[in-house]
Amino acid sequence: MELSEFNTDTIIEPFRIRSVEPIRFTTMDQRKTLLEQAGYNPFLLKAKDVVIDLLTDSGTGAMSAQQWAGMISSDESYAGSESFYRFESAVQDITGFKHVIPTHQGRAAENILFTTIAQKGDIIPSNTHFDTTRAHIEHNGAEALDLVIDEGRQPLTIHPFKGNMNVEKLKESIKKVGRENIPVIMLTLTNNSGGGQPVSMENVKAVSKIARSHEIPFFIDACRFAENSWFIKTREEGYEDKKPIEIAREIFSYADGCTMSAKKDGMANIGGFLALNNDKLAQDCRSLTILTEGFPTYGGMDGYDMEAVATGLYEALDEGYLKYRIRSTAYLGDKLIDAGISIVQPTGGHAVYIDAKEMLPQIDPLEYPAWSLTNALYLIGGVRSVEIGSVMFGLQPDGSEKPASMELVRLAIPRRVYTQSHIDYLAEVVIHAYNQRKELKGYKIISSPSVLRHFSAKLQPLDQ
Ligand code: F0G
Repeated sequence: MELSEFNTDTIIEPFRIRSVEPIRFTTMDQRKTLLEQAGYNPFLLKAKDVVIDLLTDSGTGAMSAQQWAGMISSDESYAGSESFYRFESAVQDITGFKHVIPTHQGRAAENILFTTIAQKGDIIPSNTHFDTTRAHIEHNGAEALDLVIDEGRQPLTIHPFKGNMNVEKLKESIKKVGRENIPVIMLTLTNNSGGGQPVSMENVKAVSKIARSHEIPFFIDACRFAENSWFIKTREEGYEDKKPIEIAREIFSYADGCTMSAKKDGMANIGGFLALNNDKLAQDCRSLTILTEGFPTYGGMDGYDMEAVATGLYEALDEGYLKYRIRSTAYLGDKLIDAGISIVQPTGGHAVYIDAKEMLPQIDPLEYPAWSLTNALYLIGGVRSVEIGSVMFGLQPDGSEKPASMELVRLAIPRRVYTQSHIDYLAEVVIHAYNQRKELKGYKIISSPSVLRHFSAKLQPLDQ
């Protein structure tokens, strides 16, 4: 008997699970008390009180046996450790950048870069700066300018590369403020604050060309560079037959450097780096690294984390992994769309973003609709998500409040952690919240710090 070829639409998790972590279940009554005790801020909940934790995909992934093996055989020397050279050579192999400075996470790389190059009066354009990036730029007195294309601010508009930068606006900005006031141009891949949307190779090239013609350095915020490479492979003409690693190398070839949080596409629990070509800038950045992070061959990392990243960067670029990763996020997105829920479309790489402005029109943006939905998801099913809206972005440097351009709830999917049945449960929780959307009320902020307030603010529901 000749068996026919087996073709299936089911993309199974491309790993077996050999080490497990228990989940503790809670009742809705318990969660009511826990949320109140946390000042109605999911960041302040204890992780053990969360059933499905989608607060972030950062540092929350599962590591492979190969990563653990590398960690056990790491070299913890203060200077010149073998683990550093393995780390450096992986980063150089993928990015092509000459200098590699390890940092404890992405924001430390941002701190070093912006403290070295940005000053008062400067403007730093990007598609959309992530919150820590924006905060570091502003901390140095410079202005963070978001120039994402219009489609990138419209949750329901379908566009294959909604993370693209508006290059006309970039040209206008350079003309207006002068190239001497722009120390660097950035692109965030994928565009996290804009819905995890990718940037096309064409756009990377166009931004690079403008930056080079004005002799302005061009840096990539590369946190999710592997996912972005997969979107280019599957959506951009001419890349379908290229390997993700070839696409990643091409992206980096157009840039002068990158900041990286290895907690995302480095597949590690901690770590990051700053990588760049310019010798003088690298020297200045290394001096600051010694002051704030550590000796430049470990920076803010230890040998075993550098090993985990050296292996993880290649695992993140594995085709089978990326296919599963992007499809499993889209699987959740499809279930919510089928239920009539507005999400940022097409579904992004690392997360599904629910449009809370659309779902909860009864809640004013400055009464924080996305925050309200985030808390409802916790109360209903113990799901922890994150608000990307006016609590996160509404506070202006002068202390006033302005509604954010979007009110989103991000369901960020940790890498290689949850299975399809976890995702099915999650979809049921979101759909239950959607069916009761008219019951949801706004919130007010009771106390908050002046910088990155969403991490520690205390809130109160408006019906109390
Ligand atoms: N840039 C982007 C695009 C990010 O998403 C993050 C972190 C950073 C920089 C900073 O990196 O956390 O290692 O210091 N994003 C996490 C998130 C926190 O949940 O999206 P870090």
